[in-house]
Amino acid sequence: MSRSLFDKYGGFASVSKVVSAFYDKAVESDIIGPYFDDIDMRSQVDHQTKFISSLMGGPASYSDEALQKVHSGLHIDRTSFEEMARLLHETLEDFSFERSGVDQIMHEINSRADIVITRHDS
Ligand code: HEM
Repeated sequence: MSRSLFDKYGGFASVSKVVSAFYDKAVESDIIGPYFDDIDMRSQVDHQTKFISSLMGGPASYSDEALQKVHSGLHIDRTSFEEMARLLHETLEDFSFERSGVDQIMHEINSRADIVITRHDS
């Protein structure tokens, strides 16, 4: 593979647009919107941009350990995780990402489910 997805889709400038569109959907969601009620969205978009960029082979990176730490107090269940993943998937399609790119990013996201989910449905 010669170019990373990150370069192919236009670097940080483009990725941050995707992330903003994704968060617009997230805050509107009845399932996960409430998690973001008290969060400064600008810093969220900033951090999430770095994370998604790293999944696409860009320069920034986020360790699994850091990810676990941030989400540990948030009591995220599987339903909420899946809603988040669904909205991200939808956003990538809105921006006409190719199928292989979408699959790669969703694989990276889904492989972190056990790190982010801390509340288990009974
Ligand atoms: C694999 C999936 C996910 C990834 C990659 C991810 C990534 C991130 C990152 C990078 C941050 C910023 C950390 C920082 O400020 O340094 C963050 C914060 C946050 N995430 Fe996630 N997240 C995921 C899933 C979720 C889900 C499913 C929810 C809720 C339903 C959620 C809710 C939040 C909230 C509320 C914060 C802000 C925490 C705070 O600032 O106190 N995340 N996430």
